[in-house]
Amino acid sequence: MTAKIIIDTDPGQDDAVAILLALAAPDAIEVLGITAVAGNVPLNLTQKNARIICELAGRPDIPVFAGCDRPLAHPLVTAEHVHGKTGLDGIALPDPRMPLQDTHGVDFIIATLRAHSAGTITLCPLGPLTNIATAFRTAPDIVARVKEIVLMGGAYFEVGNITPAAEFNIYVDPEAADIVFKSGVPLTVMPLDVTHKVLTTRSRMTAIRAIGSPVAHAVAAWTDFFERFDMAKYGQEGAPLHDPCVIAYLLAPHLFTGRHINVEIETTSSLTRGMTVADWWGVTDRPKTAVFMGDVDAQGFYDLLTGCLARY
Ligand code: BDR
Ligand code: CA
Repeated sequence: MTAKIIIDTDPGQDDAVAILLALAAPDAIEVLGITAVAGNVPLNLTQKNARIICELAGRPDIPVFAGCDRPLAHPLVTAEHVHGKTGLDGIALPDPRMPLQDTHGVDFIIATLRAHSAGTITLCPLGPLTNIATAFRTAPDIVARVKEIVLMGGAYFEVGNITPAAEFNIYVDPEAADIVFKSGVPLTVMPLDVTHKVLTTRSRMTAIRAIGSPVAHAVAAWTDFFERFDMAKYGQEGAPLHDPCVIAYLLAPHLFTGRHINVEIETTSSLTRGMTVADWWGVTDRPKTAVFMGDVDAQGFYDLLTGCLARY
């Protein structure tokens, strides 16, 4: 069965690879639309980058919407130090010719969930959760209509990447994350514990480069760019491809293992704001709110990614 999804994203090179992976598998995934959110870079760039990626994929027909330009309660924090000034540094790609849709991204999410049968649409957030939380707050009737949310965000064993306690996507908008994690929608979470295992090693990137297409060339150039930051930071070979884990899970869930546990978001402490407090060891009787992934077959992930990218 084809999964109908909305990708909510702040591209970002790893978001770009996730979008390319989803669009490479139309037999398994139907992308109903892409909603951009402020995150890695401001919204004017994330919406533009989403369209650049669709055109690179040969899919200017995918509707792209601009969503929220700032978090619910705090000023926007961006990550140009990782992703570069444009968010897609590493290769110069042409400005998009496909239009940005007039509708606000949040309105698109609401209208799409109302227009389709309940339980048929999966939301795939790859950035801060501002758009999703705003949609849930504005139109509470849509919450029960969501089939599931598969998102990249948070960490337990790896703790933080933007502060010692918090992962970037959750840290940027913890109030939004709190709304989503408390929504009751079935949640599958790809935290840093998983994404830090899918590293762009030399041999994996050689296999992608060997595809020889413009898409493969762009993916290699992007990973070359952002891995310099993670390699210096973590002293390892290659960088994590965070966001593609979300799409890989839809295509091959058997690659991932995790636990169904309680996960809560810290919103008040100035020291640990944005922390995903995950009850991995089951030490409370708080309700189980999310499947929190802990491990991945990393080579299986790269075999899947390389095979899909070779379709372009
Ligand atoms: C997340 O933050 C962003 O920089 C990446 O695109 C990913 O979604 C990783 O913490
Ligand atoms: Ca992202």
